[in-house]
Amino acid sequence: MNDFIEKNIGVMMILIVVAVSFGGMIEIIPLMNQRVVTEPIEGLKPLTPLQLEGRDVYIREGCHVCHSQMIRPLRAEVERYGHYTVAGELVYNHPFLFGSKRTGPDLARVGVLYSDDWHRAHLFDPRSVVPESNMPGFPWLFENEIDASVTPRKLNALRIVGVPYTDADIETASSQVEGKTEADALIVYLQQLGLIIKERR
Ligand code: HEC
Repeated sequence: MNDFIEKNIGVMMILIVVAVSFGGMIEIIPLMNQRVVTEPIEGLKPLTPLQLEGRDVYIREGCHVCHSQMIRPLRAEVERYGHYTVAGELVYNHPFLFGSKRTGPDLARVGVLYSDDWHRAHLFDPRSVVPESNMPGFPWLFENEIDASVTPRKLNALRIVGVPYTDADIETASSQVEGKTEADALIVYLQQLGLIIKERR
């Protein structure tokens, strides 16, 4: 049998693929069904409509291209950024914003680290508060208003993939974001990042 497989590369390739996918399945399938990764940690709430709009601004502006939201369980990271990221605090995140590059610091627990005024100045012109910063400014966020007409649809879409928004949340969504600027929304989003876990830097 061994002899036959070793001399027939096609059969060997198929058997290698089967063996490797068993390995993958054994790692992945139990993980997908573990409560620790599929259930929200205690006290986790979906984002408010304004925070959610802020998250969409964050995605549109590509903040995740320079900032990760994923603190690894390594001493250097935990000392710098706070408690490492756990799966249960992210179950309502669609899509995840882990990021893969840190031109700037990780933002997973940046909430309440700075004041709203600091964020305002920093987003408008980063060098006004951090002279050596090479982050770009985002002055247009202070002029653009949130389009409140689409907010309920965003909540509804997230509800379909399992975020527990209620009918009342969806009905009142537009009125909560009406007249707010994109900067307002982005800052309320940033200010709640990572607060669910108390161990912070
Ligand atoms: C080109 C890369 C780049 C992009 C894009 C970028 N940043 Fe930054 N960001 C940085 C760098 C570098 C720093 C560190 C210097 C500073 O504080 O300005 C930083 C710092 C920050 C900080 C302070 C973090 C801390 O722990 O001190 C926040 C908050 C922040 N950025 C938010 C944002 C948001 C929100 C966006 C999208 C609107 C964004 N950044 C886009 C590079 C970037």
